[in-house]
Amino acid sequence: MKLLRDKVMEEGIVLSDQVLKVDSFLNHQMDPVLMKEVGREFTRRFAGEQITKVLTIESSGIAPAIMTALELGVPMIFARKHKSLTLRDNILVEKVYSFTKKETNEITVSKKFLCPEDRVLIIDDFLANGEAAFGLARIVEQIGAKVAGIGIVIEKAFQPGGRLLQEAGYQVESLVRVASLENGTVTFAEEVIS
Ligand code: G4P
Repeated sequence: MKLLRDKVMEEGIVLSDQVLKVDSFLNHQMDPVLMKEVGREFTRRFAGEQITKVLTIESSGIAPAIMTALELGVPMIFARKHKSLTLRDNILVEKVYSFTKKETNEITVSKKFLCPEDRVLIIDDFLANGEAAFGLARIVEQIGAKVAGIGIVIEKAFQPGGRLLQEAGYQVESLVRVASLENGTVTFAEEVIS
């Protein structure tokens, strides 16, 4: 997606060989015009999948997910990473380990908002090792619903998440794929091929 790629080139800051900072449009300040286009692009890529719900995880997944849900005309649910005062019973729970943060979170979704008939599109801002996406997929499958696809805004293709999710049988669509962050430079996966 050219618009997103340009934005990463213009505003992305390479913090290390592993981490790309994009807090001017995705992780802190958010660009609503860009997010609207992101929602349109996911809708185009998953057209025909008869999606009934969009599922993400707080917090940075919420913006791309809500724009996608708006475009699809379906509800959006975000999994909570922190214990909610009001969300205690009747919940789906999965453990998600973050290699980046070296911590495990319990993510929760109320059973009220998912049913076995649902066809769920999982959306997230970053894909690294795939732990968050696998956790969300397990939540969907716990209730007996179907993961109709996984949409990622920025995939770090030098980490194994994308490959592992595809090997597990999920359709993964990443709007940009970063092949490397070495030498302080963002190299996109497509540039490596061509
Ligand atoms: P994984 O789910 O694919 O295995 O990823 P990982 O555990 O490594 O990621 C943990 C958190 O770090 C996630 O955000 C993820 O979006 C973020 N992250 C991973 N790599 C990068 C990166 O290169 N740049 C940026 N900006 N973020 C990265 P989170 O803790 O859930 O944060 P938030 O959604 O509340 O903002």
